[in-house]
Amino acid sequence: MKRIKSSIQILLAAATLLVAGQAFASEGVDLPYRFKPDPDNQASVQRGARNFMNYCSACHSMRNLRYNRLGQDLGIPDDMLKADLMFTSDKISDHIISAMPGDEADAWFGKAPPDLTVESRYRGPDWIYNYLLTFYVDPKRPLGTNNIVLPNASMPDVLWELQGLQVLKESAAEGEDKEAEHGEPQFELATKGKLSPEEYKQFVADTTNFMVYAGEPGRAHRLAVGKKVLLFLLVFTVLAYLMKREWWKDVH
Ligand code: HEC
Repeated sequence: MKRIKSSIQILLAAATLLVAGQAFASEGVDLPYRFKPDPDNQASVQRGARNFMNYCSACHSMRNLRYNRLGQDLGIPDDMLKADLMFTSDKISDHIISAMPGDEADAWFGKAPPDLTVESRYRGPDWIYNYLLTFYVDPKRPLGTNNIVLPNASMPDVLWELQGLQVLKESAAEGEDKEAEHGEPQFELATKGKLSPEEYKQFVADTTNFMVYAGEPGRAHRLAVGKKVLLFLLVFTVLAYLMKREWWKDVH
């Protein structure tokens, strides 16, 4: 009886944790855009690395990732790595550290840009994807822009030249709800960007895929080893079964 009671307690505790975890994950605003991360798409992750180094690494570091690890994992030769991706240092064994001094960043933005190595595990890929898609013009903010998923973000809309400048549609700006019926925010492109909306979404998807890779660089290796281990266990089970039959054959 005691045992049953404690099993029920354990089950209840597990259920509570699960519910609490989900509540935490969905904390804050709904995410208007859907995104399915694909860190196994090497071409996309490579493009994302280039995007990150060009548009983000001036402010954000990835302290737990080294350039040469990145090069090895993504199949980028050292000379290309140096020429195309390394702007803040020239030793390929260096960690990815932004050029921005912390104190000054505090003064400029009111908040230092956080390290982004494990951001994809902290916020989740779909949060990042939505964050980069939902900057909009807001004259009430010091930098003139705001963000749907991180309200009053102190990060400038650094990709505006690519995306263009979007404003919330009148109806959405007046009402509390900034989302249209089908879930996507009611934005209007006030100034066109260098990329079309589709191209910009691809740019953001690539950047997010790169950040998912950075959150767990060993993922591809883990999956490959995992498959081999499973295959081994399968073969071993068959062999063990055959051996067992052979050994017990005379006993029965
Ligand atoms: C000019 C400096 C600057 C650049 C360039 C920049 N950021 Fe930021 N970023 C910031 C600051 C400052 C914050 C802190 C915002 C806040 O919390 O209000 C931030 C916050 C973020 C966050 C949210 C962190 C969190 O969980 O709260 C993400 C994600 C992010 N940046 C991604 C990017 C990406 C991707 C790029 C490149 C496309 C980029 N940033 C370029 C300054 C910058």
